Amino acid sequence: MSRETLIDLLYLFSATTFVLALKGLGSPKRARYGNMLAAFGMLVAIVATFYKHVDGHSLHHVGLIFLAMAIGVLVAVPVARFVKMTAMPQLVAIFNGVGGGAASLVSITEYIHIKSTHPATYVILEVLLGVLIGTVSFAGSAIAFAKLQELMTGRPVTYPGQQFLNALFGLGALALIITILVTGSSSLLWILLALAFVLGVAFVLPIGGADVPVLISLLNAFTGLAVAASGFTLGSNLLIVAGTLVGASGILLTRLMSKAMGRSLTNVLFSAFGSVVTASGEANRADGRSVKSGSPEDAGVLLNYASRVVIIPGYGLAVAQAQHVVRELAEELEKKGIEVFFAIHPVAGRMPGHMNVLLAEANVPYEQLLEMDEANSELQTADVALVVGANDTVNPAATQDKTSPIYGMPIIHADLAENVVFLKRSMRPGFAGIENELLYNPKTTLVFGDAKDTLTKILATVKAG
Ligand code: TAP
Repeated sequence: MSRETLIDLLYLFSATTFVLALKGLGSPKRARYGNMLAAFGMLVAIVATFYKHVDGHSLHHVGLIFLAMAIGVLVAVPVARFVKMTAMPQLVAIFNGVGGGAASLVSITEYIHIKSTHPATYVILEVLLGVLIGTVSFAGSAIAFAKLQELMTGRPVTYPGQQFLNALFGLGALALIITILVTGSSSLLWILLALAFVLGVAFVLPIGGADVPVLISLLNAFTGLAVAASGFTLGSNLLIVAGTLVGASGILLTRLMSKAMGRSLTNVLFSAFGSVVTASGEANRADGRSVKSGSPEDAGVLLNYASRVVIIPGYGLAVAQAQHVVRELAEELEKKGIEVFFAIHPVAGRMPGHMNVLLAEANVPYEQLLEMDEANSELQTADVALVVGANDTVNPAATQDKTSPIYGMPIIHADLAENVVFLKRSMRPGFAGIENELLYNPKTTLVFGDAKDTLTKILATVKAG
């Protein structure tokens, strides 16, 4: 077998592992295996690439390449190991931004490299698209990171004529690409780079914090496309396949997330959702209704008398890091012959699969996790719905109030249960910034406090009961 054939076969093997890895990532049970498979495929691809170039005399600066790889490993491994689950969206934003930036740098170097060889127009077009998309993804991800890390306001930043200006930046970038193609001017490349940077920032500024995870998924798709463009430029089939897989899966995930939030992608990107907080944050409302609050001990007694309990986790579970104690509580209830399920909303938390990952980390059996529709049918016969740090995902306004910004989002119908116990720290709203009628429902008892502390006290009562 010739060397070229062997390298092609290795690349084909890597591409196949990437496809199988995506399949694995589709279920919590196989996600770890999927991740390992993709990492192995990537290792094979790196080895094959070195092997391809080492004899062809096209491998320069080997020392620098290994230095860059060592720095990457030294930074990424501790960051990935020690990042908190709540900070995962920020981490994805950084990794994604770095990927986009790298694709853009590759395209710039390639442009400088090939321009004296008078390449075909389509080759230059691929390079320029790589610069544009990669830089938009880099700059947009940087702003998304700043929003999620609270280095800047998480609310949409809007100003008059914003969408018109953004359209102008986009059209300006396309006009520049055409001008570079026609005139062959190199200096315009730097203007394109600057404009792409401005476009990335301007595109993300009006998107509210709650929508940023959807945006990151979209930017991830952009990065994939930029990588695929680099693949065409460098003549690398593997980069084309890997970039297209990232692009396609990013677009699919973006669509799924928007759908689970009951919104269109255009609405997510252009409506500046979350700029207005409509909830009062007070326990007593102007219409005279007030909430009923109870102690953790009250909640523990109620649970002890139940025969079927549905636990509904949300973002607050991640903030409180209460996944272990909630699993202990579920085990304790089961020991007493009480049936326990976890109801998982597809957009509970701040990233896809957030609740699955947290509960898997605490070794909650997969059989206990019910997806939204199944959970809703179980709730009709549940004695207690225990809401742990969820809010928007159980807000009945999504199905009842046509004027609500979350109207149309499918929810977990906690109010179908006989009793609702709601764990949160205050009357503050969830991420969408809107009032939750469920808090005022006569069935609902609010237990104020950090979810981990409250659950620990509830567990003690259940054990003693
Ligand atoms: P949210 O509506 O964000 O509500 C979180 C609740 O947790 C709040 O009521 C908060 O109230 C409470 N909380 C926070 N820290 C707590 C702690 N330490 N102990 C106890 N309670 C705590 O959560 P959700 O129901 O999971 O909804 C997710 C939201 O994010 C939705 O609006 C969804 O559309 C959006 N979103 C999700 C995704 C994905 S993919 N998951 C993507 C984009 C947007 P207090 O402050 O009073 O404690």
